[in-house]
Amino acid sequence: MKPIPHSIFPEFVVEDQRCRHDALMSAVNRVLQSGLFILGEEGRAFEREYAESLGGGYVVGVASGTDAIELLLRALDIGIGDGVVVPTLAPSAVAAAVRRAGVRLVLCDVEQETLTLCSQAVRECLKCNPDIKAVLAVHLYGHPCDWQSLQNICEEHGVELIEDASQAHGSFWEQKRIGTLGKASVWSFYPTKNLGALGDAGAIWTSEVVLAETLRCLREYGWRQRHVSETFGINSRLDEIQAAILRVKLPSLVEQVKRRRELASLYLRYLSGVQLPSVRENCAHAFHQFVIRAVHRNALKEHLRVRGVPSMALYPVALHQQPAFQCAGYFPVAEKAVEEVLSLPLHPYLTEVALKAVCEAVGEFYS
Ligand SMILES: Cc1ncc(COP(=O)(O)O)c(C=O)c1O
Repeated sequence: MKPIPHSIFPEFVVEDQRCRHDALMSAVNRVLQSGLFILGEEGRAFEREYAESLGGGYVVGVASGTDAIELLLRALDIGIGDGVVVPTLAPSAVAAAVRRAGVRLVLCDVEQETLTLCSQAVRECLKCNPDIKAVLAVHLYGHPCDWQSLQNICEEHGVELIEDASQAHGSFWEQKRIGTLGKASVWSFYPTKNLGALGDAGAIWTSEVVLAETLRCLREYGWRQRHVSETFGINSRLDEIQAAILRVKLPSLVEQVKRRRELASLYLRYLSGVQLPSVRENCAHAFHQFVIRAVHRNALKEHLRVRGVPSMALYPVALHQQPAFQCAGYFPVAEKAVEEVLSLPLHPYLTEVALKAVCEAVGEFYS
């Protein structure tokens, strides 16, 4: 069987690029002819268009999702001496960004059902750690966090609640677009994301104009006025070529996420023998990843590989289990999840024939 393209692997990006070849080439040519490669009209237009697609607010383009987290924490004046809560089941980029901002990482367990941040665990963390200034709600795999509970807890304790929407382009919480639930959110446009550039790219969305201005200053050497650093900024700008590429892809995001949902519902119908992902009531999951929980996960993964079906464990190691982020604590849900989670192929170009072949291969393993 021919390998099936997988959103985690480059095939998804290659296929998307093939389908949009002419539009992408003309966008890149437009930038080449403009002679302006950093902070020009493409970047400004993408920031405007992305904000419009989210229903308003301000978007500040930066070089990556990792930078977006660091810059947002700094813009919120969260730094040395402060703590930030992060779910222990998350990409290491998240923890690295928090640490880069000079902030103490406080890891929390996740919910059994959705594997997103557990609000009860957050409540316990906030009780014991008075230095905590913010909670980073990672909408893991594209599934919205339990926003209402997290918001109540954060309000009670007077801490910021920030969204990491990097895996959730196109998700909704009670008819509200993910990424616009609070004051600010961070985004990655890594190539395999639901909205992906063809290189590194990221952004911060905020409802507050002053916060947006601070972020613009921090992303470019701390300049408000050219050549005059008001504060220590960094160099983290969304370049013009990536912005132009994102502008080509943005208009089809809604359609592509719709296709992901259709394919996910086929998986839910045809898969057997494994625990299927559940979707919280009042939420629309964007299915950046279709993640099953499987007994004998590694053997299943090998069985699929032999049959030409790529799959990936996201994440096979929790943050607290990694040397750089080790910390004391009890994280039973995440520790079990890292042994069982497996992402199956899912992206807008996956055919129903290929999807059924994946389901058959999974069923065969458990029969
Ligand atoms: C939830 C989440 N946050 C942050 C990041 C970091 O983004 P980037 O790779 O663009 O730095 C990622 C990327 O994998 C992510 O999935």
